[in-house]
Parts: sequence; structure tokens; C-alpha cells
Amino acid sequence: MKEIKYQFSATDCMVYLGASFGSLQDLVPLNLIFITDENVFRHHTEKFEGHKTIVVKAGEEYKQQTTIDSIIQQLIEFEADRKTFIVGVGGGVVTDMAGYAASIYLRGVKFGFVPTTILAMVDAAIGGKNGVDVGVYKNLVGTIRQPQFLLYDYSFLESLPLAQWINGFAEIIKHACIKDAALFAWLQDKSVAYFQQNPDALAILIEKNVTIKSSIVTLDEFEQGDRKLLNFGHTFGHAIENENQLLHGHAISIGMMIASTFSEEINQFSSAEKAEIKAILQQYGLPTKIQYDKQKVWNLMKMDKKRVSDTMSFILLNKIGEASVHQIPLVQLEDMVNQSL
Ligand SMILES: NC(=O)c1ccc[n+]([C@@H]2O[C@H](COP(=O)([O-])OP(=O)(O)OC[C@H]3O[C@@H](n4cnc5c(N)ncnc54)[C@H](O)[C@@H]3O)[C@@H](O)[C@H]2O)c1
Ligand SMILES: [Zn+2]
Repeated sequence: MKEIKYQFSATDCMVYLGASFGSLQDLVPLNLIFITDENVFRHHTEKFEGHKTIVVKAGEEYKQQTTIDSIIQQLIEFEADRKTFIVGVGGGVVTDMAGYAASIYLRGVKFGFVPTTILAMVDAAIGGKNGVDVGVYKNLVGTIRQPQFLLYDYSFLESLPLAQWINGFAEIIKHACIKDAALFAWLQDKSVAYFQQNPDALAILIEKNVTIKSSIVTLDEFEQGDRKLLNFGHTFGHAIENENQLLHGHAISIGMMIASTFSEEINQFSSAEKAEIKAILQQYGLPTKIQYDKQKVWNLMKMDKKRVSDTMSFILLNKIGEASVHQIPLVQLEDMVNQSL
């Protein structure tokens, strides 16, 4: 097991890589209450034996306030108090909701995560953004509050379906696009199957991505600067995700292609590199385009949290491995969205 400590404004976050779920009670000797979803619970029931566990329905459609209300109800039934430590065990949907519920229950109790999908391991569990969707509006309500720890037990991945492995690689490719050309080149050489079959390479890949995301977030916890770069592919991605019932990674993959096209049009991003991005997304089994309703997508995009009055902060690539934030007037963005459809 490898331990890394990340320092945030209000707390430190301990990261335990290659750890075992069974050691959690020793690492965090407190009154733990687990929150997980029915898939994780079904595949790993034995891991939860003897623990107070709240099991929610699986899937993005349940990442809504009503699920939070039911979690809070069960926390009351378990007589959870200020000393209770909430542990979200699952994919990004579970960690987003567990962190949010913990942030508002009794005005905030401590929490930690055990991410069980690739996507949650490399992205969703890191950085303290927690929350829920409101109807089709992604992550419209939530908090920024850091977990006390992240525990990585790779044995959870044994039950992860292939589609969910692929889903997680969208955020890995995103990290490479915005911050790490060497990682991009390494990924170009490999495939999902390679990482599934090589646990050592997978552990290196996950650690690299934990470092990329954590470094960005520790320097800019409240998204005043560099953290915005992590939204590459997300403004458009979020607009199509719930409306079209896409997996988050699929939506972001299509969003990255759109953002690459905008980068080419207004940021001198080279068309050869754009082709490399398309090729790598396809190599990892991710979609690069979809049919959708222009007007609906634009209406959703306008509601994005990154809109400030009549401009939207939008992430463009300068080159592979380097991105920048641009304020794009809404009218210009609407034009570009219409053209790229
Ligand atoms: N907070 C953030 O910074 C952040 C960043 C990126 C994404 N997200 C959010 O994360 C969510 C997507 O995360 P996700 O892709 O992990 O989704 P998810 O939590 O829905 O998990 C995907 C599916 O895999 C199942 N699953 C999870 N672990 C499993 C395991 N070990 N074995 C078998 N099945 C398992 C789940 O039940 C679910 O059906 C989105 O809601 C997105 O908005 C948040
Ligand atoms: Zn994402």
C-alpha cells in the first residue's frame, strides 16, 4: 500500500493506493456508516458484513435529491451523530451523493470514499465536488468539501463491466489532453484490454491520474483558475448526457471532440492533433459523435454553471497536453454549436 497526503484549505486528504477494503476500520477507527449502490453491494456483499450500510439504487437517474432524502432518513435510523464517519463505496454517482449527504447532515460530518469504478478512481472521488442532478441539469446542486481519505482497493474492479472500464478512460484521456502529452503517447500505445490484463500498469495509470487531478485541485480548490481545465469536454458533454441517457464518459468523449473542433477553429489547435484525439477515443471504444436535438442541447448548455451573464468559460486545447480557458460570447458559442451539429 502507498500513502499520499494532499493538503486542502480545511482538511488533509489521505490517499491509500493499492489498499485493502478490510484494513479500512484500522485506518479509520471510527463509527463508520457505508453508502453504496445495489450493484456494488450485490457483487461484494461479504465486504460489508458487520457494517451499517445504506444501499441506494444504481444509476445516474437516482443521483437526485429524493435519494439524498432517503439517505438522510436512514442516517437518522442508524442514529448517526457528529462522530459518525460516512464512507461512500461505489462509482461517481455514489461518491457524489455520499459526499453531499455527509456535507449537509448535521451541517456536515466527516466522510471518505472507496471508489469502485475507473471513472471514480481517476476523477469523481477526487476534489471534493459533491452533489446531485436536478432533473436533466447535471450537478446543479451541491457542495465543495473534501473527503478525509480515498482508499483504492483494486479488487473491486474484478466485477466492473467492460462498458464501465471504457467509460472511465474518457476522463483519463481528458487528463492526458489537458496536462500530460507523455501520458497521451503512452495511452496511444495501449488499450483497455492491456490495462485490464496488467495490474501493475493499471496501478501506475491510476496513480498518474490521481496525481494529475489532485495536483490541479490542491492548487485551485475553489475553481478560480487551473481547475477549470478539468471541464474540457464537459460543457457540451453535460448538455447531452442526461437528455440522451449517455454514460458520463461517453458524453464527455463526444464533448471533447466538439471542444477540439472549437479549438481548431479559434485557438490554432492543429487538425493533425485533433485527428489523434479522435483516433485515441475510438481506440478506447469511446464514441466521437451522436445525433441530438440542437435546440434542446443549446438550452441545456446555457444553464451550465460555467456561464457568466452573456459569456461562457470554455476550455480549448492549445496542443495535446496543454489547455487554456476562454471566455466565449454566448452568441458565438451558439453559432459554433449549430455549425458542428
Ligand atoms: N465530483 C466530481 O468531481 C466528478 C467528476 C467526474 C464525474 N463525476 C460524476 O460521476 C458520475 C459517473 O461516475 P461512474 O461512471 O463511476 O458512475 P456510477 O457510479 O453510476 O457507476 C457506473 C455503474 O457501475 C456500477 N459499479 C460501480 N462499481 C462497480 C463494481 N466494482 N463492480 C460492478 N459494478 C460496479 C454502478 O452500480 C453503476 O451501474 C456522474 O454522475 C458524474 O457526474 C463527478
Ligand atoms: Zn467528468
